Amino acid sequence: MLEKLKDIEKAALAAISACKDTAALQEIKIAYLGKKGELTQILRGIGQCAAEERAAAGAAVNQVKEYIEQAIEQKMTVLTQAAEANRLAAERIDVTLPGKKITYGHKHILTSVREEIEDIFIGLGYEIAEGPEVELDYYNFEAMNMPPDHPARDMQDSFYFSNNLVLRTHTSPMQARTMEKVAPGLPLKIISPGVVYRRDDDATHSPMFHQVEGLYVDQHVTLAELKGTLLAFARKMFGEEREIRLRPSYFPFTEPSAEVDISCFACGGAGCRLCKGSGWIEILGSGIVHPNVLTKCGYDPEKVSAFAFGMGIERIAILKYGIPDIRLLFNGDMRFLRQF
Ligand code: DAH
Repeated sequence: MLEKLKDIEKAALAAISACKDTAALQEIKIAYLGKKGELTQILRGIGQCAAEERAAAGAAVNQVKEYIEQAIEQKMTVLTQAAEANRLAAERIDVTLPGKKITYGHKHILTSVREEIEDIFIGLGYEIAEGPEVELDYYNFEAMNMPPDHPARDMQDSFYFSNNLVLRTHTSPMQARTMEKVAPGLPLKIISPGVVYRRDDDATHSPMFHQVEGLYVDQHVTLAELKGTLLAFARKMFGEEREIRLRPSYFPFTEPSAEVDISCFACGGAGCRLCKGSGWIEILGSGIVHPNVLTKCGYDPEKVSAFAFGMGIERIAILKYGIPDIRLLFNGDMRFLRQF
């Protein structure tokens, strides 16, 4: 039996040393040490040995078993290391290859235009005050001098949460919210940019859009100051040669009220397609804040006056960049957005 064990050991060690990969090594392990392996068979045969030989025979088999196990383990380490080294060699990185280009994102055009508007008014001494998009009926309408049955509410039909909670239809409620906080303190100069909502949806109207509200409250605020402020804004935004004109209009929260036009920057005022031949382009609504609004917000209209204005950011962007459809601003087409 000892003879046989020697032969098995020799054969096993030779097979192990000749073996070239871990799968083959696994097979060798099974062939010798597995349940039906050669050594296991011999171990089973020991029972038939004479009683006094059994112990020595068992020890001899176990010794060989241990040798083979060790040899397999060592070989396994060598083979896995070699396999790993091969993998790394195959994967070698060529540092001379040109890198993958990272594409940088940039601000959405509406963000850039909003910031441009903000910068202009910050330069004129205004502070920025942002307000809630879900607004109380009181601030959205009532404080803006539009009581429950006022017809002007129809033009700004909105999305209602409940009888007294709406998605704000304009940024004007921020007039009331800021005045209320600081009245009767003076002066108050804020602009309020933000999202507003209306039940409108076509090539020039989106149910969600952006406005910037402006408010200046002080003693003796005049229409002349309003005009000067808006002229400065128009020139910074649309070019130093711009002129503006105020056209009488109506808003419930201002008296008098005016639509503000700028001289057409495409034709210089001669008349073209952009300005529909008139030489003027409407950019915002404005006026002297109505005494009712001042009173509701804690100011005495006998002592204090104010001007306000409100403009659509999309409208400014569309005009400035000649964008043909408002929906392009919201549908996320990178071919469009990358241009700005
Ligand atoms: N809130 C008005 C709108 O959304 C715009 C507006 C007009 C705001 C005149 C004003 C203003 O502050 O004085 O149609």
